[in-house]
Amino acid sequence: MESSWLEAHWTRPFYLAFAFGLALGLLQAIKLYLRRQRLLRDLRAFPAPPTHWFHGHQKFLQEDKMEKLEEVVEKYPYAFPCWIGPFNAFFFIYDPDYAKTFLSRTDPKSQYVYKFLIPGIGKGLLSLEGPKWFQHRRLLTPAFHFNILKTYIKVMAQSVNMMLDKWEKICSTKDTTIDVFEHINLMALDTIMKCAFSQETNCQINSTHNPFIKATFEMGKIIFYRVYSFLHHNDIMFKLSSKGRRFQELIQVLHQYTEKVIQDRKKSFKDGMKQGNLQEKKYQDFLDIVLSAQAENGDSFSDDELESEVKTFMIAGHDTTSTGITWLLYCLALNPEHQEKCRDEIRGILGDGSSITWDQLGEMSYTTMCIKESLRMIPPIPSISRELNKPLTFPDGRSLPAGMTIVLSIWGLHHNPAVWKNPKVFDPLRFSPENSDQRHPHAFLPFSAGPRNCIGQQFAMLELKVAIALILLRFKVTPDPTRPPVFSNHIVLKPKNGVHLHLKKLPEC
Ligand code: HEM
Repeated sequence: MESSWLEAHWTRPFYLAFAFGLALGLLQAIKLYLRRQRLLRDLRAFPAPPTHWFHGHQKFLQEDKMEKLEEVVEKYPYAFPCWIGPFNAFFFIYDPDYAKTFLSRTDPKSQYVYKFLIPGIGKGLLSLEGPKWFQHRRLLTPAFHFNILKTYIKVMAQSVNMMLDKWEKICSTKDTTIDVFEHINLMALDTIMKCAFSQETNCQINSTHNPFIKATFEMGKIIFYRVYSFLHHNDIMFKLSSKGRRFQELIQVLHQYTEKVIQDRKKSFKDGMKQGNLQEKKYQDFLDIVLSAQAENGDSFSDDELESEVKTFMIAGHDTTSTGITWLLYCLALNPEHQEKCRDEIRGILGDGSSITWDQLGEMSYTTMCIKESLRMIPPIPSISRELNKPLTFPDGRSLPAGMTIVLSIWGLHHNPAVWKNPKVFDPLRFSPENSDQRHPHAFLPFSAGPRNCIGQQFAMLELKVAIALILLRFKVTPDPTRPPVFSNHIVLKPKNGVHLHLKKLPEC
């Protein structure tokens, strides 16, 4: 039977649309196939661990198993291609010479981390590129001048002592095993808020600040998950997922918190300008510098940029240091002989710790070696990444093309047995002057190196020293064998369920 006129005309557009969709799908499949073939060709000089045909290596990266990475580092010298699904690969490096070549260039940050980070914290120093990055870096560098850092020692000591007073109260009333990470996090937030923003938040006592800390933690986790889950690389897919919806809520929490800090400060900045008493302050803190730049030339610093920088420094300034102090304390709890040596040194220099000076901190050589060794063993930032803007040739002659995402695994580098003898052993003497002399300058990179190194590294080292000195003067720490910490591998390497340590109050000297 012949089809009716109506049937013929309605089905035709449907077939056309179907054929068009099919052609598009086919084209996409060919594109993906060619992409895979190109990647296989570009990476063929570098052997890789066995991969799953669909997930690639993403499972082992998401499982928070740092030991797995160590096994790969041992088996595959210098570097390995890490497949994220069937059509994408990141190139992991962990060799000092490779790191040197990589860090001496100015490739942009990898879109896979920063594209996912920017909706959360905005475009601050961490994620800016080109002339804008240079302008902000030059503007903000004076905020870390050592004359300013010196004035922070007292502020840091106050925050640490406030935390230790809390620990003393806990010790006298109940079981003395606590999650130190939770406390150290609030202490570090308190410190950065006072130092960089001159804000007395009282956050160690007032728990309304906890949502900000929790949001920072959760956001880091979601971003890291997204980087290694290729199905969530697509914005629409991510926004529709439960993690994407949660991410939007977290953005709001961070926005509200920073917005309040900025508005409060803008108000007092204006009041200060009106009364002409800005000069009375001993130093210009981070926010003074940015607000002055904005007041002088609004075009060079928009409100959005201001908010992004505030968020960046608030998060980068407390998240990394709190993690660093926590892991340092954990390392010393596991190694009581080194803890005791630090305590002896600190007592000899600081007495009862009632006042601390810049020079005294400089004398703590054994404690500084322990800090460096803990940053080697558990680097708070376990990896950094860039996207090559031109081909790169490593010192051994092997090359990679432009467009490749390179991940410098700081964890891998710090645990590379070709660089560090017995990398799993906590041995602060690795950092004695005679043992450091011969070491490759790119073997130890907790703060990265080159033009985009950490702007806050002196601040961080200062805070780590003040915190550990005051903690060890008042407490002896031992691990809780029933609750060993588990790594939660995101942008910052945090403990998944906290770090539980047993505290013993020491008699006052
Ligand atoms: C133990 C503590 C810290 C560690 C381990 C650490 C580590 C790092 C690393 C590895 C980078 C390079 C990131 C990359 O190349 O993608 C970096 C950059 C950065 N850090 Fe830190 N950091 C610490 C503390 C701080 C503090 C206290 C601040 C601020 C007060 C800070 C602010 C920044 C900023 C703004 C950048 C970006 C610099 C730029 O690109 O010009 N960091 N940090």
